[in-house]
Amino acid sequence: MADSLLTISYILGSISFIIGLKMLSNPATARRGNLVAAAGMAIAILATLFLYKDNTGERLHNYGWIFSGLIIGSIIGTLAAKKVKMTAMPEMVSMFNGMGGACAALISIVEFQHAMENGHIENLPIIFAGLIIGSVSFAGSMIAWGKLNGSIKDFSFKGQHIFNLVLFAFILLLAIYLVFQITPGNAFLFYLVFAGAILYGVMFVFPIGGADMPVVISLLNSFTGVAAACGGFLYDNKVMLTGGILVGAAGTLLTILMCKAMNRSLLNVLIGSFGGSTNAAVSAKGTTGGTYKEISLYDAAIAMSYARKVIIVPGYGLAVAQAQHVCHELEKTLEEKDVTVLYAIHPVAGRMPGHMNVLLAEADVDYDKLLEMEQANEEFKTADVVLVLGANDVVNPAAKNDPASPIYGMPVLEVEEAKMVIVNKRSMKPGYAGIENELFFQPKTSMLFGDAKAVLQKLVTEIKNI
Ligand code: TAP
Repeated sequence: MADSLLTISYILGSISFIIGLKMLSNPATARRGNLVAAAGMAIAILATLFLYKDNTGERLHNYGWIFSGLIIGSIIGTLAAKKVKMTAMPEMVSMFNGMGGACAALISIVEFQHAMENGHIENLPIIFAGLIIGSVSFAGSMIAWGKLNGSIKDFSFKGQHIFNLVLFAFILLLAIYLVFQITPGNAFLFYLVFAGAILYGVMFVFPIGGADMPVVISLLNSFTGVAAACGGFLYDNKVMLTGGILVGAAGTLLTILMCKAMNRSLLNVLIGSFGGSTNAAVSAKGTTGGTYKEISLYDAAIAMSYARKVIIVPGYGLAVAQAQHVCHELEKTLEEKDVTVLYAIHPVAGRMPGHMNVLLAEADVDYDKLLEMEQANEEFKTADVVLVLGANDVVNPAAKNDPASPIYGMPVLEVEEAKMVIVNKRSMKPGYAGIENELFFQPKTSMLFGDAKAVLQKLVTEIKNI
C-alpha cells in the first residue's frame, strides 16, 4: 500500500513539474506554473519522508536532522526570495543553483563511502559523474554569484583556456581510471577528483565577462539538473530523475536559445569575443561620419500625443534607470489620449532571460500589450512613433546590413519601419556589444538624451499639459 502511494506521489510530482515548466513559458501563467511545480515538489518530498523504504524494508530515520534542514532552508529561501530586488535576480538564481550542485556533489561523497563499505562499485560511474558535474556547478555558480554582486572581479591569465582544458582532461581521466581501479585505500584520489572539479568550476567562470553571466548561469543550471539526475539514478528515485532531467534539458535549451538570440556560439560566449567594452565612447559625429539630430521633450510629447500608435522598445537602460513604473504611467497617459500603446520585447533585451517581461510585469503592464520580436516587426510598419528606451544592440540595423559587424545575423527589432523613431539614452556611447548604432544617424531617428526615468517623468508631465 505504502509503495503504491509512493509511486502515485512520484507520478503526481513528475506530472506537476512538466505542467509547471510548460506554464512558465508564458508570463500570464508563469506564477501559477511555479506554484504547481512547487506543490509537486512538496508532494515528492513528503512522500519520500514518510513512505519510502530501502531494500531492507527500513524507513528513513534522522527525522530531527531532516526537519531542521527543511525548516532552516525554507526560512532562508522565503526571506531571500521576498527581499531580492529584480536587478539582483540572476545573483540569487546563481546562489540557489550552486546549492543544488553542492547537494549533488555531497550525495556522491556519501554514496562513495557507502560503495567503499558495501562493495557496490557498480555505482561508481554515476557517483563520479554526480561528483564532477555537481562540484563544477557549485564552484562556478559561487564565482558567478560573486561576480554579479561585484565582490569578485574578472580574472584571467594567458593560456587559461589551455589550462582549463588540461585540468578537465586530468579530472576525467583520473575519474575513469578510478572507476576501474578503485580500492578502499584510493579515497585520496577520489577527493583529488573532487578538488580538481571545484578548481575547474572556479577557473571556468572566472574569465567570463559580466554581461555574459546569464548564459553561463543557465549552462550551470543545466549541469545541476544533470547532477541531480545522477542522484536519481543512484537512489533509483524516479521523481529525482525526472526533475533533474527536466532542469538539465530546460537549462540546455535556454542556453542554446540565448546564444541564438545573440547570434553567438556557446564557445564564443565561453571564450568571450565581445561584451564588457561599453566604455568605448563614440564621438558626437560617430565613427560612421553621420550626424544625429536631437528632439526636445516638448516635440517628443507632441509627436506621441498625436500619434495613433506608439510602440515602446525597452532595453537594458530602462532596467538600470528603474523606469518601469513611470513607463507604465506614460502608457496610461497616452491611452487617455486615445493612443494605442504596445511594447516590443526582444528576447535578449537587458541582461538576463525575460528581463523586460519581468520588469514590465513588476510595473503591472498588461501582458497582452507585449509583442514578441516577430509580431513586433510586423507591427512597426503601422506605428507612428517608436520610443526606444535604453535599448541599443537589439535595435541595431547593422545586424542585418553589415556582415563585418560582431552582431551580424542577430535577429533585431526593425524599428526603422515606423514613421518616426525617438531614442532615449544618456549619450552616444555604445551598448553591450561595444559597437556604434547606425539607427541613431538615420533621418527618421531623433535622440532624446537623459536618464530614462527622469526623461519619462518629464515626458508624462508634458503630455498631460498638451
Ligand atoms: P544595450 O545594447 O546594452 O544598450 C543599453 C543602452 O542603455 C546603452 O547604450 C546605454 O546608453 C543606455 N542606458 C544605460 N543606462 C541608461 C539610463 N539610466 N537611462 C537611459 N539609457 C541608459 O542593451 P539592449 O539593447 O537591451 O541589448 C542587450 C544586450 O545585452 C545585447 O547585446 C545582448 O546580446 C546582451 N546580453 C543579453 C542577455 C540577455 S539574456 N538578456 C544576456 C547576455 C548579454 P548610454 O550609456 O548612452 O545611456
